[in-house]
Amino acid sequence: MQKITRRVFLAGGAAMAAVAVGELGSGRTSLAQGGTVNLYSARHYDTDSQLYSSFTSKTGIKVNLVQGSAEELLERIKSEGANSPADVLITVDAGNLWRADSQGLFQPVSSQVLQGIPGNLRHPQGHWFGLSMRARAIMYNKNKVNPAQLSTYEDLAAQKWRGKILIRSSSNVYNQSLVASLIAVHGAQKTEQWARALVANFARPPEGNDTAQITACAAGMGDIAIANSYYLVRLAKSSNPQERAIADRVGMFFPNQRDRGTHVNISGAGVLKYAPNKAGAIKFIEHMASTQAQQIFASGNNEYPVVSGVPLDSVLQRYGTFKSDPINVASLGSNNSEAIKIMDRVGWK
Ligand SMILES: [Fe+2]
Repeated sequence: MQKITRRVFLAGGAAMAAVAVGELGSGRTSLAQGGTVNLYSARHYDTDSQLYSSFTSKTGIKVNLVQGSAEELLERIKSEGANSPADVLITVDAGNLWRADSQGLFQPVSSQVLQGIPGNLRHPQGHWFGLSMRARAIMYNKNKVNPAQLSTYEDLAAQKWRGKILIRSSSNVYNQSLVASLIAVHGAQKTEQWARALVANFARPPEGNDTAQITACAAGMGDIAIANSYYLVRLAKSSNPQERAIADRVGMFFPNQRDRGTHVNISGAGVLKYAPNKAGAIKFIEHMASTQAQQIFASGNNEYPVVSGVPLDSVLQRYGTFKSDPINVASLGSNNSEAIKIMDRVGWK
């Protein structure tokens, strides 16, 4: 829990800055009455502070931010139980949101505004809502691969990719969600066959995060890397010329365009079951889904907005648009444990 940090975002400057953060535990009631939303967030982007102050400017409701990893925040909310001061949880990947939901941490929300988020990117009963979208794409070394050779996730199991695929470990929720999406389409048995062949095609035992896979791909350690879209965009926008050079050598391919579409995932938020300020929490998520906030929220991590009509970041746009898999991302969570079992069985480290 030591890594958890907290900050308060205030609009209106000095006059309101006198409102101290206070200890969350002891200040539960007064914080709620004072028009504060307690936000537990696993996001760590500089632009987020801009988002929170825009909410405060609009509504007068302060944002009290507690940051930590998804695991830390889930543990904290559970241990706080009915006394939890947390109103909203924001985290990445539907797998994490599903985990929180399966532990009963969220409450249903019905909101006309949040109906503007595509149905497949939110929980069917309003337990959580996708606020930005990322694609799990096929990154390829432009010197080694002609994108015409690429087609689908299923094709990554083909013999032609033997020793050429870079991908991170199976402990990562992004890969668990990708495998879960294949289970939804093909069932567990076929997905296991696919996963076994994929592992046989690995260029090396999994190590590092998605950035490490793209970097290794650029260096020619493999032909293709599986990574979330924003990792490549981040490198392309880097102030470090070496990172930009890595991005220059790598292309982004959106698989399964001729069938169901590319596997996507979300960053999202839900209202917690014991939220002291439920009304404020709903307003907060509604604000995050507004056109103004969507642009900032998505660009904070080089992601795609979930609401239509919101312009894409200019660098992200260069990689083109794509058709996304319309499956409800909630099913990624319900297939998560099966996915992990399959990955274990096929020796995906
Ligand atoms: Fe990530």
